[in-house]
Amino acid sequence: MENAALSAKLGNNDAVLGATLLLAIESSCDDTSAAVLRGDRVLSNIVAGQEVHRQYGGVVPELASRAHQQHIVPVVHQALEMAGIRKEELDAIAFTVGPGLLGSLLVGASFAKSLALGLDIPLIAVDHMRAHILAHFIKGEQAPPIFPFLCLTVSGGHTQIVKVDSPSMMTVLGRTIDDAAGEAFDKAAKVLGLGYPGGPTIDRLAKQGDPHHFQFATPKAGGMDYSFSGVKTSFLYLIQKLEREAPGFVPANLPDICASYQRHLVTYLLSVLEQAIAETGVKAIALAGGVSANSELRRRFTELAERSGCTSHVPPLEYCTDNAAMIGIAAQFKLAAGDLAGQHTVPMARLKMG
Ligand code: KG4
Ligand code: ZN
Repeated sequence: MENAALSAKLGNNDAVLGATLLLAIESSCDDTSAAVLRGDRVLSNIVAGQEVHRQYGGVVPELASRAHQQHIVPVVHQALEMAGIRKEELDAIAFTVGPGLLGSLLVGASFAKSLALGLDIPLIAVDHMRAHILAHFIKGEQAPPIFPFLCLTVSGGHTQIVKVDSPSMMTVLGRTIDDAAGEAFDKAAKVLGLGYPGGPTIDRLAKQGDPHHFQFATPKAGGMDYSFSGVKTSFLYLIQKLEREAPGFVPANLPDICASYQRHLVTYLLSVLEQAIAETGVKAIALAGGVSANSELRRRFTELAERSGCTSHVPPLEYCTDNAAMIGIAAQFKLAAGDLAGQHTVPMARLKMG
């Protein structure tokens, strides 16, 4: 449908963001998710994880796309049912266009395209990283950040600091030059035999440990970039050394190891953000991405905001990890701006923001 026809159908932009009934689909990695939004309100947000990867200690792309194929129909069905609507009532459909695993993205994109074609309604392609940031604008108990704000996005695949001037104007100030923060958690957990994803387990064990017991290398990527490969290697060497010197020491001291490592990663993440606050003079900071579920990061992020005279914005846990509600809110902004996709739109594994 052309933009003019869309406007005629849906009225002016305010009305679009206010009441449009939209189905959003997220399938960029290992969670199949569908959400229904009316404007900025989430009516349902269903997330189906994929247990199949646990035994491999990480996401296996081929298995992920196959699991998406199995999950997508029941997940969408459940999202519509929970929202109490029929698919014929939908005004638009959104999907994640990238970045992510290509096979996984294709499942969500193909499903969304077919449904939009069948219902003859607009299609919106959403950048997963922008959606993590725009999750702050989902209607909730907390007020959304005022523009401009700085967003630290920390997930299993990405780590970046973004200056957000508007829903569409975002500038990446710094990003990781190697691993993502989530990988630093997950790979350490794998070394410790804690399973995948390891971030939540490290977070839980760290609560009983001494965060000052062990030291790790502090990386320096330059500017506002990050690097996690050196920290990860220093972690591996320390664990190997401890086990060599005293077999059984590591499993007996997991809380101290996890607490020290978590503290180290959080200190590093926030030190670069603090530098970004100083260099930009921006007075609002936000967290996004799966790692923002980390309890120590949330606590110390709020402390940093208070120390720096910034307002702090931390999303509810359900909107931190991958979910379709964030794709939905990002889509509502795009729809309001008349920024539509079409049947020709193809997913991109390496979509780069900005
Ligand atoms: O955003 P997300 O759900 O998926 C990606 O787009 O990558 O992030 C997943 C990442 C995983 O690396 C997971 O270990 C990490 O978020 N994570 C955590 C916690 N909860 C999830 N890391 C540290 N502490 C947590 N509580
Ligand atoms: Zn994500």
